Amino acid sequence: MIAVLTTWFTRTFGVDAPILGAPMANRAGGALAAAVTAGGGVGLIGVGHAQTPEFDARPAAVARATGPFGAGLMCWALDKNRATFDAVVAERPDVMLLSFGDPAAYVLEAKAAGAVVGSQVNTLDDLRIVEAAGVDFVIAQGSEAGGHTGHIATLSIAQQVLDATQLPVLVAGGIATGRGVAAALAAGAAGVMVGTALLASGEADAPDWVRERILGARAEDTLYTDLFDRAQGFDWPARWGGRLIRNEFADTYADATNKKLRAVYDKTDPTHASVYAGEAVELITELRPAATVVATLAADAERQLRSVAGLLGG
Ligand SMILES: Cc1cc2nc3c(=O)[nH]c(=O)nc-3n(C[C@H](O)[C@H](O)[C@H](O)COP(=O)(O)O)c2cc1C
Repeated sequence: MIAVLTTWFTRTFGVDAPILGAPMANRAGGALAAAVTAGGGVGLIGVGHAQTPEFDARPAAVARATGPFGAGLMCWALDKNRATFDAVVAERPDVMLLSFGDPAAYVLEAKAAGAVVGSQVNTLDDLRIVEAAGVDFVIAQGSEAGGHTGHIATLSIAQQVLDATQLPVLVAGGIATGRGVAAALAAGAAGVMVGTALLASGEADAPDWVRERILGARAEDTLYTDLFDRAQGFDWPARWGGRLIRNEFADTYADATNKKLRAVYDKTDPTHASVYAGEAVELITELRPAATVVATLAADAERQLRSVAGLLGG
């Protein structure tokens, strides 16, 4: 692909597409990160809050073989146990995302290890906290996003953040076509981060029934809830719920106590297990390699931007 979409992101990482692959815990390992980078973007490995005792170096080795790679971690979990942070830093990733909490305790070390450091933000208060911590860029994450997220929709939070900071801004939440990428770039973003768009790719760590559920789900089948965190005893801070595909467990136990949830939840049962995905899930209609997804997003965004340039006349 010939790079035509040139932004802070493509220049910084020397890539063709202004697209970051989301660090999806349990779904984005080395293979998915490598495939996103092969498609012209930059792939991230998701490091979950329950990941113990250390980040496994193997996915980093797989991802690094293709080009720039990174990892995404959760600050609230690192504040309890920073072992995964130390293990990731030791792999010298090109990018580190330190989201969901205050990254101040980690930013300098991550930078010293050579990483460009970003944070996802859900409010302007979050933006001020991560700016003060010294991050290099921010990602405005809207509530349409799959996985844990805030309460403000993508277009609203993107406009707020773009207006309020001098830092490079990426946009995440609900983006799964070239139109969405073009919209973010036209608004002034340096790129986008996509997660749900990659879930039906063979490189994502997911059993077939998860991929089938992704392919079959509509936007209105997603649910924003903390039910599954409570069921598994995860101590996610209350302000971040997760967006996932509604299932039998969610319908049956919507009003159950934590005690009841803990007693009945069976993560090996597909009618119970959480399948995190965002509203863009309805746009995912076929199994495609992640590199193809990323390259197509970039090519379609370019075409879209060229076509809207005509709106200016002349
Ligand atoms: C299955 C899944 C798991 C996720 N896990 C994480 C995670 O571990 N850390 C993180 O920072 N974000 C996580 N996210 C959120 C993504 O980083 C990103 O904000 C989101 O995927 C963007 O919205 P989209 O899904 O509509 O593309 C996850 C998202 C999904 C869909």
